[in-house]
Amino acid sequence: MNLLDGKLVSAKIKEDIKQEAASFTAQAGRKPHLVAILVGNDGGSETYVASKMRNCELVGFESTNIRYDVDITEAELLAKIGEINEDPTIDGLIVQLPLPKHIDPDKVTEAIDYRKDVDGFHPINLGRMQRNLPCFIPATPYGIMLMLEHYGIETSGKKAVVVGRSNIVGSPMSILLARNSTPGNCTVTLTHSRTANLKEEILAGDIVVAAIGRKNFVTADMVKEGAVVIDVGINREESAETKSGFKLYGDVDFEGVSKKASWITPVPGGVGLMTIVGLLKNTLEAAKGTIYPK
Ligand code: GUN
Repeated sequence: MNLLDGKLVSAKIKEDIKQEAASFTAQAGRKPHLVAILVGNDGGSETYVASKMRNCELVGFESTNIRYDVDITEAELLAKIGEINEDPTIDGLIVQLPLPKHIDPDKVTEAIDYRKDVDGFHPINLGRMQRNLPCFIPATPYGIMLMLEHYGIETSGKKAVVVGRSNIVGSPMSILLARNSTPGNCTVTLTHSRTANLKEEILAGDIVVAAIGRKNFVTADMVKEGAVVIDVGINREESAETKSGFKLYGDVDFEGVSKKASWITPVPGGVGLMTIVGLLKNTLEAAKGTIYPK
């Protein structure tokens, strides 16, 4: 078993981003600027947004966190997004998901100017991604592709099984792995809660991406000997063992699966750190106007 080490790869890529951000700042007279909107006080979302903001500072970006109470109206939120869309000093905007039930996440996603959509969730970016055109790629799948690229994992002609069809991870991941690019050129099976014979599907995978949000769901008996296993799960449970009071568990039973996998990501220290890198890279591209010229 070899470790796909998110700590190592993210540190290396963040160093490159930091240098590029410094060049941008010297030329433009301002830093790349990311705004994150957080509605309510979901513990997980608070942690993720705080980490995104902290990492922006680390690489020399400006970051703004706008917080709203859980009862903000959809109209108020959409109005704020409209304001940010028009602000030339803001390069990237993300609205942390999930949102409260009374706010339609599709409306919110489509309200964000696709040129500032550094989450890559807007239908224009998703459509362009599917067509292999320049676009913002959703941060987690983007981070996973950067990880595969860093370690030179052969993907062409391989059978990839993605477990979970979310808009944020599973669905875009399946598109990226199937695209005619490197990494890519996989034969992809996108599995979900209605998939028949899920275990057999996963067992056929040379590459398995687990993104279902269930602690230790993928066990050793479900994985082919020598498979590359990517664990997207960040399942938080209260724990007296850690300083934060929480412990993270992946969607993969690392203990068992690592004995069969050729490569595997740990949790924590794997995909989560690469998601941040994906977001930072998108924000830098948004500032530079390389994908969508300003
Ligand atoms: N919630 C879980 N992951 C993400 C993400 O990548 N972006 C946003 N905006 N919300 C999320």
